[in-house]
Amino acid sequence: MSETVQVIIDKKTYELPVVEGSENEKAIDISKLRAQTGYITLDTGYKNTGATTSGITFLDGEKGILRYRGYPIEQLAEKADFLEVAYLLIYGELPSKNEYSDFKNNITNHTLIHEDMRVFLEAYPTKAHPMGILAASLSTISTFYPEAQNPNRPKEAIDLTIHRLLAKVPTLAAWAYKNAVGQPVVYPKNKYDYCENFVNMMFSLPAYEYSPDPVVVNALNKLLILHADHEQNCSASTVRIVGSSQANLYASVSSGVSALWGPLHGGANQAVIEMLEKIMNDGGGLMKWINKAKDKQDPFRLMGFGHRVYKNFDPRAKIIKKAADDVLNKMGIVDPVLEIAKELEEVALNDDYFKSRGLYPNVDFYSGIIYRALDIPTEMFTVMFALGRLPGWIAQWKEMSEENQPIGRPRQVYTGAKERDYLDINKR
Ligand code: ACO
Repeated sequence: MSETVQVIIDKKTYELPVVEGSENEKAIDISKLRAQTGYITLDTGYKNTGATTSGITFLDGEKGILRYRGYPIEQLAEKADFLEVAYLLIYGELPSKNEYSDFKNNITNHTLIHEDMRVFLEAYPTKAHPMGILAASLSTISTFYPEAQNPNRPKEAIDLTIHRLLAKVPTLAAWAYKNAVGQPVVYPKNKYDYCENFVNMMFSLPAYEYSPDPVVVNALNKLLILHADHEQNCSASTVRIVGSSQANLYASVSSGVSALWGPLHGGANQAVIEMLEKIMNDGGGLMKWINKAKDKQDPFRLMGFGHRVYKNFDPRAKIIKKAADDVLNKMGIVDPVLEIAKELEEVALNDDYFKSRGLYPNVDFYSGIIYRALDIPTEMFTVMFALGRLPGWIAQWKEMSEENQPIGRPRQVYTGAKERDYLDINKR
């Protein structure tokens, strides 16, 4: 007999089924609880709520394990190519040679953006944050493909949208950057692979000869892989919940970009560098900032520290820390901000406040250092994260829609005013 748990409410016992995952994770299925008992469960921030079963990414926050479709992140970051990982996440298996080459060709052939999009892109103020431009452009781009709004399209049509998204987001991201620095946009070139093309669109200028530096391209490939999925995080859950209303994939991914923007999620990579620069320029030593982070009256937090699910270490941070050292060495860069980051990590890791709360550097603590070394401006850091996370969002959306999951609609416990009568404005 399958496992159940018993819940006793008003002396009556209810049996609730237990769902077990392939890595022995257990969950109590409460989907019929309200119908049976009148009760709902309350879990602000979904700290203890499984929103779905999923076969995409496994992570164990206590042991610091992260796997995409069963493959350890360490192996993928070391050996794979970003498009291979994108294929793996979206379609479930690593591609064969032919599948890979078809996938790559399809993406390469959709990198251009409709020229009418330029009108929108040129209208943004030069100070516009590139995440705002990216989120808005993704919604706008859906208007060029009205057929994508049909939720009952055949598989081939959905694949076409997937290829278009993977192809066009780097172009949009690079153009958002060019808008910010007031330079002419650079069109995609089919001779380059995915990461090379992005680097070229970011950094080449009509006046100069330019070819993407392989150190930069390889570092970017690794960073994108490390960010490619992270199961039911804030932005992936947003994509799934928006997609559950059968909103189109462009709109769903656009909402993921907005969710990622916040400093408690993907925006942390920008916030980390701004914090490290502040600490450096302040010159007052590290302890002042450590103490501020520990002071509950002070809103300051150590950005890049702590994670909702990793309470031991973030396996991505380990890989990124080493990659940051490699990139800086290869490029011959000495970055005082990296030194501050290392000292801060050392002090925090030995401090009881951080130890007792399981607060360790997360993926964003070191990614910003690499982006700086690659000459990517701070405001673009979260866009880089979005570029990496795109296949994850697509995979999460695809899994949710293929399983015909119901519209996401949490309940609440109402704590507002009881019923009262309307009072005329002159009597209030
Ligand atoms: N600095 C100081 N104290 C912290 C920090 C921090 N960075 N993070 C958590 N804490 C403390 C909290 O004050 C709380 O202390 P208390 O128990 O005494 O009240 C305790 O640690 C637990 O923190 P919560 O906020 O309850 O943990 P939660 O799981 O809700 O939040 C989060 C996780 C949002 C990542 C948090 O650690 C944080 O704000 N970190 C800084 C922002 C950041 O780096 N975000 C990137 C996350 S990774 C990613 O999205 C890719």
